[in-house]
Amino acid sequence: MDFTNKNVVITGGTTGIGLATAKAFINAGATVWITGRNAENLHKASTEINSPKLTTVVSDTSKLADVSFLEQAFSEKGNKLDVLFLNAGIGTFEPIEKVTEASFDAQFNTNVKGNFFTLQKLLPHLAEGASVVFTSSSAATAANLETSVYSATKGAINKIAHIAANELATKKIRVNIVSPGPIATPGLDSVATDEAKTFLAGVTALQRLGHPDEIAKTVLFLASDAASYISGTEVTVDGGYHSYALK
Ligand SMILES: NC(=O)c1ccc[n+]([C@@H]2O[C@H](COP(=O)([O-])OP(=O)(O)OC[C@H]3O[C@@H](n4cnc5c(N)ncnc54)[C@H](OP(=O)(O)O)[C@@H]3O)[C@@H](O)[C@H]2O)c1
Repeated sequence: MDFTNKNVVITGGTTGIGLATAKAFINAGATVWITGRNAENLHKASTEINSPKLTTVVSDTSKLADVSFLEQAFSEKGNKLDVLFLNAGIGTFEPIEKVTEASFDAQFNTNVKGNFFTLQKLLPHLAEGASVVFTSSSAATAANLETSVYSATKGAINKIAHIAANELATKKIRVNIVSPGPIATPGLDSVATDEAKTFLAGVTALQRLGHPDEIAKTVLFLASDAASYISGTEVTVDGGYHSYALK
């Protein structure tokens, strides 16, 4: 797939799925902006990608002032945005009785409010024919224990994405969702023990965790002309997690 002369913004692009997707877009010829909260992570990602086509922006998606800063950083040279990958996300897994207001707010502010307002602020810069991809999760439709808040944030993302697909169609902008199953990333490492990861791999039909590159390939497909008649769709990339787990 060729993304030469295309501009791509990826929120949460410093590690895991976002980093793999940034690399894939750069390799396909795109100019890419990645965000994260942590300057050190951005520096590491920049060193690893090592391309003049990469720009890093410290921007906490849960803070509207930071979202505005990203909008300014992207648009200062009059760039038009071809692909917006709304990927930044956090999860805390705990039973309902243990959820604190701070944990609830952090997950909703990052995963829902942050993605929503990043889309709103960057909307004026989206080119005709642009593509927006949200990162949701197979958790949005599963009902796994201790995921009530995280799963609710991803369910909200799915609804926002479906409505955005209808609203933005008049501008010929396609909006889709990629829903990963268990993917081997620093994010998964931070919430799952080795034992939990072995369990998660075992409840997929393919009997393994996914690789961030396997999500990146799906995002590039959804953002490409090969997906020109695909909008308002959720593509699940989970190694058969759903079907196997429900048997
Ligand atoms: N891995 C899985 O099994 C899996 C499954 C389903 C869905 N997902 C979803 O996939 C997405 C990426 O997750 P991942 O597994 O790749 O995790 P990850 O390795 O922890 O990556 C998360 C990225 O988001 C950034 N980030 C977090 N909070 C942010 C904020 N408030 N503002 C800006 N950037 C922020 C992180 O950078 P900083 O820490 O530097 O801010 C990092 O770049 C998330 O939306 C997650 O919910 C993951």
